[in-house]
Amino acid sequence: MCDGYEPLRALVSPIVAVTTTYQGRSNGLIVNSALRASLSPEKLRLSVIVHKFNHSHDMIFGAGAFTAHLLRSDQLDIVEALGMRSGRDGDKLATLPHVRGALGTPVLKECLAYYECEVVNVMDTGASTFFLGAAKAWGGEGAGQAMMSQHVRMSVPPERQAQYDADLLAGQEFSTRKAEEIAPVVWRGFESGGA
Ligand SMILES: Cc1cc2nc3c(=O)[nH]c(=O)nc-3n(C[C@H](O)[C@H](O)[C@H](O)COP(=O)(O)O)c2cc1C
Repeated sequence: MCDGYEPLRALVSPIVAVTTTYQGRSNGLIVNSALRASLSPEKLRLSVIVHKFNHSHDMIFGAGAFTAHLLRSDQLDIVEALGMRSGRDGDKLATLPHVRGALGTPVLKECLAYYECEVVNVMDTGASTFFLGAAKAWGGEGAGQAMMSQHVRMSVPPERQAQYDADLLAGQEFSTRKAEEIAPVVWRGFESGGA
């Protein structure tokens, strides 16, 4: 019998860089938890799950907006810049060419596709928040192979491997500890709604 955890490693999305700007500061992180969240070609929506220990979490929550970028398989420099250290320790976007998008969030130059999203709902999972984004603007090169988690796992430089493993373990422990602490978060604008 399988241990239950390993097969779930296949249940991840392509690699997506998520950026945001809150209170005049910009930041970004890498996720493999992005999903298309609407079938409608007119109402493009996608979701990302962001852990609460990441600096980006409170920034996206506060800003109510993010840009999600699908990366090409050769863009490991972006994964290293955004996914292997925290914006608490410095400006991670300083070395990545970007412009300010329609919602005020950074848009990285050169990626497969990007979606500037307004957060339209959230769900608290205990350890993380599931952000549902409605795309207000989009673009990108449209060509190339999407980067997958295995591209990243195979390409971690040996000198970073120990840190990569330690970050994963810390994330797993945090998720176990917080799994039952689900809060009934109501997103802005829905406060007076409901049955
Ligand atoms: C391949 C890969 C996938 C990741 N997936 C997620 C994810 O789905 N959700 C998340 O919150 N963090 C994820 N992370 C971790 C964040 O990108 C990482 O902790 C980042 O340094 C957070 O930066 P911040 O503190 O500036 O927000 C992933 C990292 C990598 C390398």
